[in-house]
Amino acid sequence: MRGHFPEPPDPLTAPSRSRRPDLQELPHRLRRWVVATLGSGIAHSATQTGGFSPGAACRLVLNNGERAFLKAVSLTANREAAALHRREALTASSLPPTIGAPALLSVFDDGEWVGLLMSDVNGRHLAQPWRADELELVMASLSRLHESVTPSPTSAIGSYAETHADQLGGWRRLAAAPPEGLDTWSRQHLDRLAGLESMWPTAVDGNTLLHADLRTDNMLLVGNDVVFVDWAWACTGAAWVDAVAFAPSVAMQGGPPPQWLLDRCSQAAAADPEAVTTVVAAVAGYFTEQALLPSPANLPSLREFQAQQGHHARSWLRERTGWR
Ligand SMILES: Nc1ncnc2c1ncn2[C@@H]1O[C@H](COP(=O)(O)OP(=O)(O)O)[C@@H](O)[C@H]1O
Ligand SMILES: [Mg+2]
Repeated sequence: MRGHFPEPPDPLTAPSRSRRPDLQELPHRLRRWVVATLGSGIAHSATQTGGFSPGAACRLVLNNGERAFLKAVSLTANREAAALHRREALTASSLPPTIGAPALLSVFDDGEWVGLLMSDVNGRHLAQPWRADELELVMASLSRLHESVTPSPTSAIGSYAETHADQLGGWRRLAAAPPEGLDTWSRQHLDRLAGLESMWPTAVDGNTLLHADLRTDNMLLVGNDVVFVDWAWACTGAAWVDAVAFAPSVAMQGGPPPQWLLDRCSQAAAADPEAVTTVVAAVAGYFTEQALLPSPANLPSLREFQAQQGHHARSWLRERTGWR
C-alpha cells in the first residue's frame, strides 16, 4: 500500500468516529457494483481517515492502473450520513466540471447502502495545526473558485436559505427553551442573539455557488491548488458566507482568529458588515445549539467538535457586537 498514497491525514482533522469500514468489510453486492462500474478489479484500497461520516472512504487503485474514490455508508450505521450521501449524489451531478471537484461516476442505492464512486483526487490534507502559508493557498483557491462560479452556472442547486433552513435559527430555539449547559454569555444575551440572527436568510443572499461545508477534511492540496471535496451542502449565496462558516474550524484547529480569515476573502471587502455579523450570529447559534444535543450514532465526539467551533464563533460574535 505504501508508495501509492500520501501519508494518512492528521487524526485531529475531524471528530473521532467508530472506525470507517475498509473495502473488504463492505457487502459483496456493493463491491460487485464497484468492479462492474469501473470495469476492472481492485489492486489496492486505502481507507481515508479524514472526513465526517461513519462510512467507508477508500482511494482505489485498479488492476488496469486507473484510480477512483469510493464513499459508502449504510442506513444502519447512521441514517443522516446516508441521507447526506444521497444529497451529495444530487449536488455532485449538478456541479460544473470547471471547478475541479471530483466527478461523480456512479451511485449505488439499494435502500440499505448508499455508495458514490468518484474520480480520485491525488492530493494531501493541509497541515494541522494550520500553517499561515497553506491557509493563504486555501483562501486564494477559494477566491478563484468563487469568481468562476459567480453567477452560479447551475439552476439545479438551491439557495443557502432553502438548504440551511433546518440548521440555522439556533438562537431562536435556544431562547424558547434554554437548555442545561448553555454558557453564561449566551444565556445573558439570548433574546438579542435571536433578534440579530433572524435576518440570516436575507444576509446570506447572493448568486455564487458555495461549498457551504468547508473544513480541512473537505480539502486536498494538489500542487499549489486546493481541491474542495464533499459538496453535499452545495448551494448559492454570498461568496463570503463560505469564509464565515469555515472560520471557526480554522481557529479550533490551531489557525488564526476568524477575522483574519475573513480579511483574506476577497469578496468580503464589499459585504455589508451588518450582514456579516448576522451570519456570524447564525453560525454561532448553529454550533451552540448542536453542541448541546445528544450524540448521533457512531459519531461520539461530534458534539465536542461543534462545542469548540461554537466557542470560537461566539468569541468572534462578541467582538463584532461589543456585547460583553
Ligand atoms: N475524490 C477524492 N479523491 C481522493 N480522496 C478523497 C476524495 N474525496 C474525499 N477524499 C478523502 O476522503 C476523506 C473523506 O471524504 P468525504 O467526502 O469528506 O467524506 P465524508 O462524507 O465522510 O465527510 C476526505 O477527508 C479526503 O481525505
Ligand atoms: Mg467530508
